[in-house]
Amino acid sequence: MRFLSILLVALGVQSASAADGYPDALAELLVELSDRAERPFDADQGARLWVRETIPDRTCMSCHSEALDKRGRHIKTGKVIEPMARTVNPERLTDVKKMKKWLLRNCKWTFDRECTATEQGDVLVWLAKF
Ligand code: HEC
Repeated sequence: MRFLSILLVALGVQSASAADGYPDALAELLVELSDRAERPFDADQGARLWVRETIPDRTCMSCHSEALDKRGRHIKTGKVIEPMARTVNPERLTDVKKMKKWLLRNCKWTFDRECTATEQGDVLVWLAKF
């Protein structure tokens, strides 16, 4: 279901960025994910996914830090990871390939499986709020 597109058509706007202030790339990816999603995206579910621990000591915060506006540190390599919040890091969520690549990799590491389209959309709409 193209929830986002339907919503946008209903609102009479051209793109999701016009509706939500999302970067174009994020809007594009959300539309793509919504085709495969089971329901409209839910930021609260995204917040829960961020802290979900299905494997001991593995959550999204293991590398990205607890505060989205602060730098994180890669748990294995020790490399600094710039903040996830767009308010302090405007480059965030502006590249479809990058978002896809890292969601795939990070879900596999954190949960030992890929995230569903619904989960990816949830976490993206949640992250986009910061
Ligand atoms: C093992 C370390 C690690 C974990 C755990 C991790 N990430 Fe990441 N993540 C990275 C790295 C490294 C990057 C790429 C560097 C960067 O964007 O600063 C990244 C980038 C991303 C991006 C791309 C952001 C953008 O601007 O395009 C998203 C989205 C993301 N991670 C989401 C998640 C989610 C959701 C989880 C939990 C399921 C998670 N990450 C867990 C290391 C991690």
